[in-house]
Amino acid sequence: MLAAKNLKKKYQDDGSETQALCGISFEIRKGEFVAVMGPSGSGKSTLLHLMGFLDRPTGGSYSFFGRNIDDLTDAELAAIRNDEMGFIFQDFNLLGKSTVFENVELPLLYCERTPPRKRKEAVEKAIASVGLAEKSNVEAGKLSGGQKQRVAIARALVNNPNVIFADEPTGNLDSLSGGQVMNILRKLNDAGHTVILVTHETYTAEFAERLIRLKDGRLESDAPVKYRRGTEQFVK
Ligand SMILES: Nc1ncnc2c1ncn2[C@@H]1O[C@H](COP(=O)(O)OP(=O)(O)O)[C@@H](O)[C@H]1O
Ligand SMILES: [Mg+2]
Repeated sequence: MLAAKNLKKKYQDDGSETQALCGISFEIRKGEFVAVMGPSGSGKSTLLHLMGFLDRPTGGSYSFFGRNIDDLTDAELAAIRNDEMGFIFQDFNLLGKSTVFENVELPLLYCERTPPRKRKEAVEKAIASVGLAEKSNVEAGKLSGGQKQRVAIARALVNNPNVIFADEPTGNLDSLSGGQVMNILRKLNDAGHTVILVTHETYTAEFAERLIRLKDGRLESDAPVKYRRGTEQFVK
C-alpha cells in the first residue's frame, strides 16, 4: 500500500518559493489503477515524483509498502525504485541509438533479482507483451512515437514491478497510439500490476478505476471512475 499523509512539497529556487503540494492525504492499495488529474501546474508530476521516490517531501509523510521515505537513504530509495517500480514518461526517455532489446534490458542490469541467464527471456517476454517482438533488434530512435512508448512500457515492466508510474504517457501521441498505450496499461492492471497514471485528459483518465483530482496543490476530489474504458462492463 502507498500512504500519503498531509504530504507537502515546496520548491525553493534562489529567492522564489513555490508550494507545489499543500498537504495531500490518500492511500492506494495494491492492484489499483489510479489516475491523477488536474490542470497544468496543479502538482501532478510533483506528486508522482514523491510517490516514485524520485524526490523527497518537505512536509507530511509518505510510505511505500510500509517503508517511510524519511527513514530511507538515497541509496535505499534507488534500490526500491529499481526493484519495485517502473516509470513511463511523456517523452519516452529511450536510448535512440540502442536497440529495443537493449533499452528494455537496461533495468535488469541494475537488478539483482533477475540472474543474467534469465535476462533474455524476461526481456523477450516484456517486448512481446507490448506487441513489438518483430522490432527487438531495431534501433529505438527509428520507431514511431507510439512504438517508442510501448518500448518504454516494456522497459518499465521487465522487472515485474509492484507499481507502474506513468506521467502523461499519451501526451506526445496521436489518439490511436495513445489508445493502444492505455489499453496496454489497462491489461497490465488486469494482470495485477498497480498503475498510477498522471494525465490532464479525461479520456485517458477513464481507463483508471479511481480518479484523484488536484487543483493548486490540493486534493479536490477522490472518487471511483463511473464509466471505465477498456472494458464493456460498467463499474458498480
Ligand atoms: N523543480 C522545480 N523547481 C521549482 N518549481 C517547480 C519545480 N517543479 C515544479 N515546480 C512548480 O510546482 C508547481 C507544480 O508543478 P508540477 O508538479 O510540474 O505540475 P503538473 O505536473 O500538474 O503540471 C508549478 O507551479 C511548477 O512551476
Ligand atoms: Mg506534469
